[in-house]
Amino acid sequence: MKAILLSRTGDPSVLEYTEVPTPRPQPGEVLVKADTIGVSRPELLVRRGTYPWMPSLPAIPGIELAGTVAELGAGVTRFAVGDRVYVTARELAVRAGGYAEYIAVPERAPFLLGAGADLEAAACLSNYQVAWHLLHTAARAASGQSVLIGQASGGLGSAAVQLAKLAGLTAIALVGSAEKARALKDYGADHVIDYSAEDVAARVASITNNVGVDLVLDAAGGKGFANYLTMLAPFGMAVSYGKLIGKLDANIVDALDKGPAYLHSTAVRIFTMHTLDDKPAIRAQSMNDLIAKLAAGSIRPLIHARLPLKDARRAHEMIEARDVIGKIVLKP
Ligand SMILES: NC(=O)c1ccc[n+]([C@@H]2O[C@H](COP(=O)([O-])OP(=O)(O)OC[C@H]3O[C@@H](n4cnc5c(N)ncnc54)[C@H](OP(=O)(O)O)[C@@H]3O)[C@@H](O)[C@H]2O)c1
Repeated sequence: MKAILLSRTGDPSVLEYTEVPTPRPQPGEVLVKADTIGVSRPELLVRRGTYPWMPSLPAIPGIELAGTVAELGAGVTRFAVGDRVYVTARELAVRAGGYAEYIAVPERAPFLLGAGADLEAAACLSNYQVAWHLLHTAARAASGQSVLIGQASGGLGSAAVQLAKLAGLTAIALVGSAEKARALKDYGADHVIDYSAEDVAARVASITNNVGVDLVLDAAGGKGFANYLTMLAPFGMAVSYGKLIGKLDANIVDALDKGPAYLHSTAVRIFTMHTLDDKPAIRAQSMNDLIAKLAAGSIRPLIHARLPLKDARRAHEMIEARDVIGKIVLKP
């Protein structure tokens, strides 16, 4: 089969499109034929060699795909050939294996999708799962509340906008250009703030009638994170779940110790999906809810581009150039 192989870490040129043996399903495994493969930022970290949970090399990168069951290993009872399924590496021993025509996985791993399921939308579910847990596990977001979503033009941020709307929240999307602002408004965000051209704190104050937002979701980190602490409503929470700019700055403690953050009993939370690595029932709870939403047609990912699998390198280049609005998917 064709696959992308990572033999050494580095820039996108290390992603090699090549022929590898098609896996055979072992007893208790199913072989899944990929229809659509999702591309997510953690794969860029794997490719660079900076992901804390690195697969051993050589490896096929990729953390998710949607497709059909092609073959059953001995003893498999949960699936039949032809079933539509979603595979996320969060259910596998290593966060890898997705950039390929086929993957063999233990039968407990795939999630069954309905007969007519939209496989392209399903291939974006990893972003929705993180967004789901940001809203409902890291925070306890309730209908009627407001959420400021940083990096809203990304794959994960745009999924968070959609799930926030489905949960009855006011979704305020924070983006870095006028083009991204237009796209997120069209996508359904209630309000959009372009941080490259606007005063974010002033816009948040005006949108919330000076009350502040109930929740902030941020993957940038760095010094700027402390600024969010002044934009929160009483008992509001800022969640940090990424380090696109860098790790959180020590000035957060100062910011919490005075001014509006102190008076508002503000909370700061770190979130990583890896907290759920040994909690399959909680992962299944979010995924089953998302699959129900997918079947109902409410999961509509913002797909920026569909590229052939052989162009995985190009997908990584586009994401690194911040040229993407939403998600890139690969077609084997
Ligand atoms: N905690 C977890 O469990 C977990 C799980 C999965 C992913 N993540 C993290 O979630 C973040 C988003 O992932 P994603 O797949 O949605 O990424 P993505 O599609 O590449 O989107 C990232 C967005 O962040 C914005 N951005 C702001 N500062 C940036 C910077 N310095 N470098 C690059 N982009 C920057 C960009 O939009 P603008 O140009 O509009 O600012 C970009 O569109 C990543 O940090 C990833 O590692 C965390």
